[in-house]
Amino acid sequence: MNERPVITLSQISKVYANGTVALQDVNIAIPDAQFVCLVGPSGCGKSTVLQLIAGLGRVSSGSIDWGFPPPARKLAFVFQDAALMPWATVRENVRLPLKLAKVSQKDANSLVQQTLALVGLEKFEQSYPRELSGGMKMRVSIARALVTQPNILLMDEPFGALR
Ligand SMILES: Nc1ncnc2c1ncn2[C@@H]1O[C@H](COP(=O)(O)OP(=O)(O)O)[C@@H](O)[C@H]1O
Ligand SMILES: [Mg+2]
Repeated sequence: MNERPVITLSQISKVYANGTVALQDVNIAIPDAQFVCLVGPSGCGKSTVLQLIAGLGRVSSGSIDWGFPPPARKLAFVFQDAALMPWATVRENVRLPLKLAKVSQKDANSLVQQTLALVGLEKFEQSYPRELSGGMKMRVSIARALVTQPNILLMDEPFGALR
């Protein structure tokens, strides 16, 4: 195990454009090979922390430091809403990140198949999101993150819809 934290948040603050102070002086060190859960009441800033780590927003002050350089970072994000493409099948939804990364059709097919089996949706690869339950949609969303074989997986309340 790497002794150096993979992600270090130092004195992070986030003030949104409307003046809302979402985070103030937050310090978190995330070690290698660990599950870390942020627990707190609604509105305390959990999603904001995840978005900042993912680079989906900028810190207002403080810094985020990484234990390894960008090429070694394979980051995936599972949003609180499944955020699937409604016009595309389960298989096409899960394949999207591989398509964007220009993974070959053959490799992509096998990765998509394996990942759908992992989340128990192999029989639904031809289904459309509207044909799935809320929990199944979330599993598609989780599969879309796992299919990229990330080494950092950020998940925003991903299991709320799962039973
Ligand atoms: N884009 C935004 N613009 C303004 N305020 C925001 C925005 N996103 C979140 N907030 C505010 O920041 C605070 C933290 O929100 P959030 O990180 O979503 O909390 P949590 O995920 O813990 O419920 C809340 O007060 C929320 O209203
Ligand atoms: Mg949230």
